[in-house]
Amino acid sequence: MQATVSLFPADAMVTRVGCIGAGYVGGPTCAVIALKCPDIRVTVCDMNPTRIGQWNSDKLPVFEPGLDEIVQKCRGVNLFFTTDVVATIQESEVLFISVNTPTKTYGHGKGRAANLKYVESVAREIAKVARGNKIVVEKSTVPVKSAQSIADILKANRNSQNKFQVLSNPEFLAEGTAIEDLLNPDRILIGGEDSPDGWKAIETLSSVYKRWIPADRIITMNTWSSELSKLVANAFLAQRISAINAVSAVCEATGADVGQVALAVGKDSRIGPRFLQASVGFGGSCFQKDILNLVYICESLNLPEVAEFWLNVVSINDYQKQRFAKRIVNCLFNTVSGKRIAIMGFAFKKNTGDTRESAAIYVSAHLLEEGARLAVYDPKVEADQVTRDLNNVTGTPDVVRDQVEVCSDPYEAARGAHALVICTEWDVFQTLDYARIFAGMPKPAYVFDGRKILDHEKLTKIGFEVETIGKRVRNVSQSHPAAITNGAGSGDGAAGLNSCEDATGPDSEMTL
Ligand SMILES: NC(=O)c1ccc[n+]([C@@H]2O[C@H](COP(=O)([O-])OP(=O)(O)OC[C@H]3O[C@@H](n4cnc5c(N)ncnc54)[C@H](O)[C@@H]3O)[C@@H](O)[C@H]2O)c1
Repeated sequence: MQATVSLFPADAMVTRVGCIGAGYVGGPTCAVIALKCPDIRVTVCDMNPTRIGQWNSDKLPVFEPGLDEIVQKCRGVNLFFTTDVVATIQESEVLFISVNTPTKTYGHGKGRAANLKYVESVAREIAKVARGNKIVVEKSTVPVKSAQSIADILKANRNSQNKFQVLSNPEFLAEGTAIEDLLNPDRILIGGEDSPDGWKAIETLSSVYKRWIPADRIITMNTWSSELSKLVANAFLAQRISAINAVSAVCEATGADVGQVALAVGKDSRIGPRFLQASVGFGGSCFQKDILNLVYICESLNLPEVAEFWLNVVSINDYQKQRFAKRIVNCLFNTVSGKRIAIMGFAFKKNTGDTRESAAIYVSAHLLEEGARLAVYDPKVEADQVTRDLNNVTGTPDVVRDQVEVCSDPYEAARGAHALVICTEWDVFQTLDYARIFAGMPKPAYVFDGRKILDHEKLTKIGFEVETIGKRVRNVSQSHPAAITNGAGSGDGAAGLNSCEDATGPDSEMTL
């Protein structure tokens, strides 16, 4: 059993780190701590035995470039995965909480507030079983003042000999580049109590990060600023995406090219070029959840104008996904009923198998509702995950069973499809043999590039009809408008409508 540690390791020497929650954050973060601090024993625990089993197997539950190698190197040496929460709490001097904080789906704050039940249950468990003093690190993304709630729970339930310090240390990794982000972060944020014990705890946690991160990138501040900074950082990132996506709609309506506009705007050093890529819309477990959490906080603080400002970022994202899905139906002559459509990519971004809030789910659900048959291909998403996601969103498992095929090969998904819909920016989609794919598709054969990653000129030369975000591509049909347009006109005229614009109502479905 670990002896009681003094409050807190006086020379800031940490020997045991624990983490509760072995998900996309807890697993990779602890793997990197173990890699960079060979003298620290790092234990990651989770209440889900399947997940822990996967962490202890050759097929990890999280796909991240570089993660497998680190886990293989450290696991069983100074990195351990376990379901034993009690032992993890008791053995650790520094204890990260990395459990999920999803949007509430019930009661007050439903659909907006963060559900903190997992964080609270961990705090209660720590208070119940801890022996000795602990630094409890809030790594989960939480509303402002959550650290205070954790501290209150710990204080009210602790064994009188134990002392706790609660720090806020939000995680900024992005899925798909998590290992690179953890090895070389822009900054590490640590918020703590403004007291000698608070400062000491901050120093102790900093000492772990300082093993591989330059001191000037470790920023310390008060707890509330740290908690709020995480929500605001995600809100700013998502806001940039919604801003350029809103511009993409203007581009499609005018003939401007959103790529060119983004280039021109991003050259302004005050704005910068990153995160200005228009797309089918952002996904992932964090952006929407964290903005809605921020909206809820603003509403609770009686700041309705501020709440509305941030809510619009989510509204534009929903609009973008819907706009893209509707455009597919419109282009395919206003009916996709019975048509095979290849969904290329199901993860919310490349280099991850995570599908949470993926735009592909919403585009697929819209097409299923319109009666399409879907052939889904993603290099990292398993078939049962696709089925689960579509069942959850559509609520119609029969439709999903009858109309969705998950393929293990992109060519198989494309065979016989009226359209390819690029939903995830996987590199592999850029190098497919599109002439071969074209040959196996009914004509006209469509590509809807929701990520703007393909060579559109090359595709149109092959014969594809290409539709993308924020740009009009000169298609085969535009030289022969009568062949496939609905009579609304085509071409590059500023206000002209092409065959794919949403100019037709439900009664204008074209029969061929
Ligand atoms: N995924 C990201 O890219 C990312 C990035 C930065 C921050 N975050 C934040 O980090 C937190 C975790 O996110 P995630 O994506 O890793 O979530 P996740 O759902 O992948 O993992 C959370 C894990 O916590 C476990 N858990 C929940 N309650 C537990 C308990 N009482 N005891 C033991 N285990 C418990 C769950 O079983 C699950 O495996 C969230 O607050 C999220 O907003 C996520």
